[in-house]
Amino acid sequence: MRGIKIIGTGMYMPDTVASNDWFSTILDTNDEWIYSRTGIRERRISETEPNWSMSSKAAKAAVENSGIDPSEIDLVLAATCSPDYFYPAMSCIVQQQVGAVNAAAFDINSACTGFINALDTASRFLQDDDYRNILIVAGERLAPHCDYTDRTASILFGDGAAAAVVTKNSKPMYSYLSAKGDYFNALYCKVDQSRANCPLLKPDSLPEGIINTEAKTHFMQMNGKAVYKFAVDAMETAVNKVLAKAGLTTADIDLYIPHQANSRIIESAVKNLKLPPEKVYVNVEKHGNTSSACIPTCLAELGDKIKEGMRICLVGFGAGLTSGAIVFTQ
Ligand code: UT7
Repeated sequence: MRGIKIIGTGMYMPDTVASNDWFSTILDTNDEWIYSRTGIRERRISETEPNWSMSSKAAKAAVENSGIDPSEIDLVLAATCSPDYFYPAMSCIVQQQVGAVNAAAFDINSACTGFINALDTASRFLQDDDYRNILIVAGERLAPHCDYTDRTASILFGDGAAAAVVTKNSKPMYSYLSAKGDYFNALYCKVDQSRANCPLLKPDSLPEGIINTEAKTHFMQMNGKAVYKFAVDAMETAVNKVLAKAGLTTADIDLYIPHQANSRIIESAVKNLKLPPEKVYVNVEKHGNTSSACIPTCLAELGDKIKEGMRICLVGFGAGLTSGAIVFTQ
């Protein structure tokens, strides 16, 4: 039986605050539109700090909070869709920065579902005697990939990182993971190969359904309406599936932590699932959507409020289109 226990959390947010009012100085938008459609008031932007640095700071805070020595970490998993390098994996840089000298390391990219997939992966490694403590860090620097002339998408996203150290637990954990690659072009960011210099290369073909002009194809492309519709259905399905696996009902859960993309998406899913809103943690107002970092940021903010024996449900969705939910008892 799989089980995980969170023994430490940490987070790091860059200093620069990009408020809705700031967006209204660069785009035809305003605080009223953004807040009423998304629940977001502000998000952080990393002006100069790379993702690996933010992620390492969050990871160090989580390890410190756990009380273990970095040498006791057996695996570092980094969830990110905005790494600074193609390689090495960001987890290797975090491993070095944290001093997790005995750890293996690899990255997981399932965009906003990244922390869910990483936690699920961690729980499977923890079934092996060789793995006792796993550091999961989720960090994103999305600002370089967003198009700040696109008022629909750029207002949603923020930068930041958060991490958790997990260990074995005899209390069971359940997961449900899903991917719908048919919808990959609803949300994507193409690798910019425009500076390649192999004389044989020609511009490669673009995914169908592309939204922006060719000149901007290196920016995130998002069909907001399609993602919105998917998100509400996916959150509901994932929660129902994972609860069915666990033999639990929605009332058996003490705390729900959804991916923080848009408060209206969360409210719709909460309404459809008939969840008590007071059991659902929401912080989208101050951070916006930090992709994979959303869920661990909530965990870090909750800190000591996450008590032993609490039954927690994490649910997320993102590019892919991917989705998933985890139920565990702390
Ligand atoms: O982790 C996954 C990441 N992605 C998401 O979660 C995206 C999910 N989708 C959404 O959250 C919503 O679809 C958006 C917030 C992106 C858009 O909200 P919406 O209610 O679906 O707006 P819309 O796209 O239907 O646009 C309605 C109107 C349009 O104007 P017209 O054509 O009706 O004149 C837009 O041009 O609102 C306009 N609009 C804006 N107006 C002011 C779009 N963005 C803005 C803006 N400020 N920032």
